Amino acid sequence: MYTLLCLLGLSVVVLGQIPRACDSPPQWESREIRIDREQNFEIRRLLTYDATNRRERRLEEIEIGSNRTFVDEVILWNENVQYTLDLKTRKCNKTVPYRPWRERGVPPGSRFDFEVVVGAAGVENEHVNILYFSWNSTDGDRNLGMVTSPNCVPIQNYHLSQKYGLEESTYYDVTVGIKDPMNFIPPEECANL
Ligand SMILES: *[C@@H]1O[C@H](CO)[C@@H](O)[C@H](O)[C@H]1NC(C)=O
Ligand SMILES: *[C@@H]1O[C@H](CO)[C@@H](O)[C@H](O)[C@H]1NC(C)=O
Ligand SMILES: *[C@@H]1O[C@H](CO)[C@@H](O)[C@H](O)[C@H]1NC(C)=O
Repeated sequence: MYTLLCLLGLSVVVLGQIPRACDSPPQWESREIRIDREQNFEIRRLLTYDATNRRERRLEEIEIGSNRTFVDEVILWNENVQYTLDLKTRKCNKTVPYRPWRERGVPPGSRFDFEVVVGAAGVENEHVNILYFSWNSTDGDRNLGMVTSPNCVPIQNYHLSQKYGLEESTYYDVTVGIKDPMNFIPPEECANL
């Protein structure tokens, strides 16, 4: 945990450890930055997240070293299907999802670890209370979720697994709910696969 905090570069004040429950909204949209420092890649995406139906839409830019690719992904875990459209070539691939479904934010039943204040503690409109939760996935992977208090809006997730190492996702401009349910219809290039 403290390694993660150091990694975040936050100087923190740890407040009282009153256990809390916090369920993030099951459906939301945001910009996301995914960084894998070990493998030197970064993904910037527009994310539509739907935990109710276990699906995601991602419009993303992948930067590996100095190379960039642009893809549009629709991943439907309940149907075990992933559509990946290369936005340069307009070629669509249909595969099984590249990884199992994962909760973002903080799912029900997670363990409350601690609360911190970022910004000027006690000064109105100059700080945000952040709650840290952790949970273990059924496959044994470790998860950490940082959310705002009191509404549990996702800020950051860490996922630690043998297969993928440490993955870090940060969310910006989160809006709760899904504006356009048509977002989960794959692009037309993927229609007849
Ligand atoms: C970037 O792409 C070029 C040409 O496709 C390739 O030769 C090079 O290895 C790639 N670099 C990285 C870091 O993937
Ligand atoms: C689609 O699959 C082909 C063949 O496996 C691969 O070369 C290509 O990179 C894939 N495209 C995308 C967008 O994943
Ligand atoms: C997850 O598993 C590890 C190792 O078994 C354990 O130390 C940790 O307390 C577990 N975390 C939670 C939130 O249950």
